[in-house]
Amino acid sequence: AGRPLADRYGRHVTYLRISVTDRCDFRCVYCMAENMTFLPKREVLSFEEIETIAEAFIARGVTKLRLTGGEPLVRRDIMELVASLGRQLRGGGLEELTLTSNGSQLARHAEALAAAGVRRINVSLDTLDADRFAAITRRGRIADVMAGIDAARSAGLEIKINMVAMRAVNEDEIEPMMAWAHARGMGLTLIEGMPLGEVGIDRVDSYLSLRELHDRLAERYTLERTDKRTGGPARYVRVAETGGILGFITPMSHNFCESCNRVRLTATGQLFLCLGQENQVNLRDALREGGLDGLDAALDQAMILKPKGHDFVIDRQHAEPALARHMSVTGG
Ligand code: GTP
Ligand code: 5AD
Ligand code: SF4
Repeated sequence: AGRPLADRYGRHVTYLRISVTDRCDFRCVYCMAENMTFLPKREVLSFEEIETIAEAFIARGVTKLRLTGGEPLVRRDIMELVASLGRQLRGGGLEELTLTSNGSQLARHAEALAAAGVRRINVSLDTLDADRFAAITRRGRIADVMAGIDAARSAGLEIKINMVAMRAVNEDEIEPMMAWAHARGMGLTLIEGMPLGEVGIDRVDSYLSLRELHDRLAERYTLERTDKRTGGPARYVRVAETGGILGFITPMSHNFCESCNRVRLTATGQLFLCLGQENQVNLRDALREGGLDGLDAALDQAMILKPKGHDFVIDRQHAEPALARHMSVTGG
């Protein structure tokens, strides 16, 4: 195996998030604007290029791959990529292949995902109410997501629900969502909204501190410490009353950058070294111009560029989003 990917702060990159498309069939209010300009298809990496890049990372110690979007399942023939990346799970050094999906296309792909070696997936769902769901996603239908979740459970996939917690939008549903998810053997991860891109909501108004929410929940539930880690940024507790797992992703109220193990490949082959910074390396050009050696050298260069952390802030003095780039470019 090649040299491990270590950055200037002693952190090791073992987790690659691969955005396979910036497109999505939804327009969630915290993620996208109503009207989005997507990347021209000709600029998007081919599956072969994605596989080559993924293999280069695996050779350098990456053990976890997550496909993201936009919505990963809207990319044409996506299961071909999943199946070929899945082969790396068999003795190739890869330990986990997974994805984060909005669930809309999950019903027709669930079986194939499981067959390719995917064991668990994260499904984004911010509400259980059909009208509210339509309002938050602007064009999603909750019935499709529910069908997707059912199919994924039937296929034996472990599911964790991602809920972006928003004050006055879905704050009242946190406990119902927890009861619902836990009753079905699914984990629930709450996420603080992050200020990327011009979108459709006031981020100051909708900001909900999960640190404070955690403390309020702790008065009503027994939140047991667990050492459960999934390799991502969430910290988990077990809720004694429901027996389920509850995760907190707190980029705003409690920065977790110190333990960052992740980098992000965009659909066009840019490698972003931090969700909240612009530092990037063009892996597509490195590969096209320098072949495998060029690619490997670009990974070394990238490690030097990985910043210490994000500097997101949400307050009235920072009304502009911290970054013009939308979440859908890097898939979170
Ligand atoms: P697990 O493997 O289940 O731990 O998943 P994950 O949390 O790594 O991935 P997922 O795609 O479900 O992301 C959940 C949320 O975490 C999204 O809102 C991401 O934007 C956010 N997130 C993931 N990694 C980072 C990070 O390095 N920094 C910040 N600020 N947010 C992150
Ligand atoms: N802040 C926090 N989470 C976000 N997501 C999308 N946009 C944002 C944002 N601005 C979430 C989605 C999905 C995950 C990949 O990122 O809901 O679950
Ligand atoms: Fe699409 Fe996910 Fe962004 Fe919603 S959060 S618009 S489902 S990419």
